[in-house]
Amino acid sequence: MKERVFLTRALHDFALNELKKRYRIEIHSGKIPIPQSKLRSKIRDAEGLICFPYDKIDKRTIESAENLKVISTYSVGFDHIDIKYAKKKKIRVGYTPEVLTDATADLTFSLLLDLFRRVSEGDRIIRKGEWSMVYGASDYVGVDLQGKTLGILGLGRIGGTLAKRAKAFDMKIIYHNRKRVSKNKERSLNAKYVSFEELITQSDAISIHVPHTKETDHLWNMKIFRKMKKTSFLINTSRGKVINERDLITAIKKKVISGAGLDVYEKEPIGKDHPLTQLQNVVLAPHIGSSTKETRLKMAEITVKNLNLGMEGKKPIYSVGY
Ligand code: DGY
Repeated sequence: MKERVFLTRALHDFALNELKKRYRIEIHSGKIPIPQSKLRSKIRDAEGLICFPYDKIDKRTIESAENLKVISTYSVGFDHIDIKYAKKKKIRVGYTPEVLTDATADLTFSLLLDLFRRVSEGDRIIRKGEWSMVYGASDYVGVDLQGKTLGILGLGRIGGTLAKRAKAFDMKIIYHNRKRVSKNKERSLNAKYVSFEELITQSDAISIHVPHTKETDHLWNMKIFRKMKKTSFLINTSRGKVINERDLITAIKKKVISGAGLDVYEKEPIGKDHPLTQLQNVVLAPHIGSSTKETRLKMAEITVKNLNLGMEGKKPIYSVGY
């Protein structure tokens, strides 16, 4: 009898076909995210689980799956999974880093460019029929990227790749990490290590590349916004909960900072009436950091490979915990 794999959402056809050859698969097709009680009952007798970053794979959910061998998430982030408990239960956890590094860094840099040059804002103005006079000396002026300081919190894979993009645009790069990176990496990226305090006070734009943990929850709040330059922008393509969104909205409204570029939110998806949509100097993307055709295909490949290895009792290619 084939083993059972539950998917909280469909993947590409090639991935589903591959899974079908080996396992009995069931794909959730209703409300997204799958209600927690349904998820628990669906994985009760499953050996494998494929999930997404919005699924909550907490202790109680893991406990409900007595036969579970592997959790394979279609994401680089794994803050939605109780890794400690999965490890205790000897359940493998696979995730998809590396393949999405370039795509996510590109999206981050596009938010930065958009904010500096007010592209989305201009688009909104035109669509509303409000572009009434041509080429005024101070119309819709943005700011140069060249010579500005980009602060990167978390110079890991994505942060480092973002630094490469910024270097090509002649930006100065400063970064803060829990652990300083090697001298070689600093040199090749032209990145200078600074304290967290220096990062927030010296940057013209700050990009966040840290996971959401107890320590980073609401790390960005009014206290931090007040220390940032009034002319600075905040960019977040990591996890929404790293920023206190209410404080961010107040900080932008009160001109404590100049604006923000966001791909992630405290609660997703956000609707058209969300207070962030009322702010002109904010660029909003619908959690698409890794969403290119090529990258999403590669993520599906890795997700299946990770699952297969875990089902065989082996370590996934990209594995966390056990
Ligand atoms: C992930 O994979 O965790 C990211 O949120 C993709 O953008």
